[in-house]
Amino acid sequence: MAGLKRLEYRGYDSAGVAVLADGGLATAKRAGKLVNLDKELSEHPLPSAATGIGHTRWATHGGPTDANAHPHLDNAGRVAVVHNGIIENFAPLRAELAERGHELPSETDTEVVAHLLAEEYSACADLAEAMRLVCRRLEGAFTLVAVHADAPDVVVGARRNSPLVVGVGEGEYFLASDVAAFIAHTRDAVELGQDQVVELRRDEGVSVTAFDGTPADVRSYHVDWDASAAEKAGYASFMLKEIAEQPKAVADTLLGRVDGSGTLSLDEVRIPAGVLREVDKVVVVACGTAYHAGLIAKYAIEHWTRIPCEVELASEFRYRDPILDQQTLVVAISQSGETMDTLMALRHAREQGARVLAICNTNGSTIPRESDAVLYTHAGPEVAVASTKAFLTQLVACYLVALYLGQVRGTKYGDEIGDVVRDLSGISGAVERVLGTMDPVRELARSLAHKNTVLFLGRHVGHPVALEGALKLKELAYMHAEGFAAGELKHGPIALIEEDLPVVVVVPSPRGRSILHDKIVSNIQEIRARGARTIVIAEEGDEAVVPYADHLVRVPATPTLLQPLVATVPLQVFACELATARGNEVDQPRNLAKSVTVE
Ligand code: F6R
Repeated sequence: MAGLKRLEYRGYDSAGVAVLADGGLATAKRAGKLVNLDKELSEHPLPSAATGIGHTRWATHGGPTDANAHPHLDNAGRVAVVHNGIIENFAPLRAELAERGHELPSETDTEVVAHLLAEEYSACADLAEAMRLVCRRLEGAFTLVAVHADAPDVVVGARRNSPLVVGVGEGEYFLASDVAAFIAHTRDAVELGQDQVVELRRDEGVSVTAFDGTPADVRSYHVDWDASAAEKAGYASFMLKEIAEQPKAVADTLLGRVDGSGTLSLDEVRIPAGVLREVDKVVVVACGTAYHAGLIAKYAIEHWTRIPCEVELASEFRYRDPILDQQTLVVAISQSGETMDTLMALRHAREQGARVLAICNTNGSTIPRESDAVLYTHAGPEVAVASTKAFLTQLVACYLVALYLGQVRGTKYGDEIGDVVRDLSGISGAVERVLGTMDPVRELARSLAHKNTVLFLGRHVGHPVALEGALKLKELAYMHAEGFAAGELKHGPIALIEEDLPVVVVVPSPRGRSILHDKIVSNIQEIRARGARTIVIAEEGDEAVVPYADHLVRVPATPTLLQPLVATVPLQVFACELATARGNEVDQPRNLAKSVTVE
């Protein structure tokens, strides 16, 4: 149950467990959050057991009911299976099983696996072999874990396009979608490759084979964070804790990569400098918040390297026949490293000959494993479903990639690159300062809890910041929130402005590209003239905005391109506080899951 609790962020609409005890299987399942299952288990405890499986679900096929919760059993109640992903050919398999007399009472795609496993096991009496035979018949994406009452010391798992890691403790073994589930017991893990089956035996340990039965080479690794990193540490929510951790996350992501002389060392980017010099196009693919990091990366990459950069929602990418070749560098950004849309986009890119650089926060996950190179962000585990510290570190990594490309290729902005590398070293302190001034933002958020709509405006890199602010508010506060390019407003969205409508405006620095600043000050005046209540995020010392700001939020001065690192923070705090004031649970917003491992 403690392990499931740590994984609840991945899905939390129902949960269940099955244990092997007294020669049979004992199960408990409940719709709703894990507390419901917890209550059920304290009222009706299961017998004690040394082997068991559990699951917390994010529904794909079949609503979040007790019956659809995992584990699923065969008709004899001897096999129990839990599953993440989607089995795309479950309908013909179900029909085939029904013809052979099986009864399939749930609405899930998972149930067919329990029945198929029972059939195969009765023929071969080897659960791992039965799993391999079944997996060869399945289409789609799946992580499966199964037990059989006739094999009480064995647990088998399988994975295709969906994560599964093995934890190796002392005299005990674990299987989970994420190391967080077993980090309190062991930090030694083994990663499973694509299309592999793992068998855990109490006496013989871990053995891994491909779906065709050939033994597989596996990689062991040590997790460099511990259980305390996955705890709330006194904060009311993981989100608050993760917002507060941002100065450290940013500093850790820079550690060892920049030096005071303005030079970058990114040895881990194993793509040879010669190849990077030939790159003639960069394409960023990502989803959600990571996509917003990509939108900001475009400004940095094009400015510092003069290489054209496209940014695309990963879920759209492969369906439009994108133009890619060996001179294309694809940057795939993903906190979890498991997002199916992003994984499919990078596979498509590699098939076309492009090189893929992953920016990822999760060691050993699928996206970095399938990329040509990876730049890890060092945010530590991000548990709250809404991404905060991962976003800031993704931005840092994007800047590093842009600067590194500029450094390797040499551009006319050589001096500027050196300055920015030095500026980055001060960013962690700047984020810290922003965090120290958030009380008025929290107060403002509480005062707006009754509103229906909040709009967000920005220009240049402030535009993706506005999109991110709106996304945070939508997912946490369940409010209508939209981000717009401030200049686009007069082409339509300005019609939405009405008396007292809160509009958050991200104002670029008045230094540097001051024309940009002047234009947005005009935009603020335009909306205020139409009744909007303006919430202005502006650099310290920017006096031009003062007359037009109903609420003014100050952020430290940074180079324009780096401003998202400080300007996003008040928007995270704003959304978190507003959602809390509306009575929402910020760590687990409705309908969402942290790792989206289905397309
Ligand atoms: C929003 C959020 C999501 C993720 C998106 C991609 O707060 O967290 O939009 O950013 O699902 O996830 P990763 O980065 O794991 O690929």
